[in-house]
Amino acid sequence: MEENTINITVTDREGIDHIIEAPTDMNFNLMEICKSSELPVEGTCGGMALCASCHCYVQSEHKLNEPSDDELDMLDQAFFVEDNSRLSCQIYLTNDLNKLKIKLAPVS
Ligand code: FES
Repeated sequence: MEENTINITVTDREGIDHIIEAPTDMNFNLMEICKSSELPVEGTCGGMALCASCHCYVQSEHKLNEPSDDELDMLDQAFFVEDNSRLSCQIYLTNDLNKLKIKLAPVS
């Protein structure tokens, strides 16, 4: 695999896995990469932690950046929240996240 590229598995709402190749040197977040792969992630607020339309569940054991207070506040108001819930727009793609697995949360 090329340097600064990682593979991420995204399970869509029908339970289908999509393996996405994502660059880690372009400052993309997970919501943006899902959108550019034409997965049904709205990202209505453009990645400001204000809408929860990018809610996902993290299914692998990767150590992610801690959620900010804004993200936690938004998750507080979101539906179908689980312990592994995150806003995908708040997860920035780094080489450490190779083989990350996430599942899209249901649309509320
Ligand atoms: S895109 Fe709105 S909270 Fe992530």
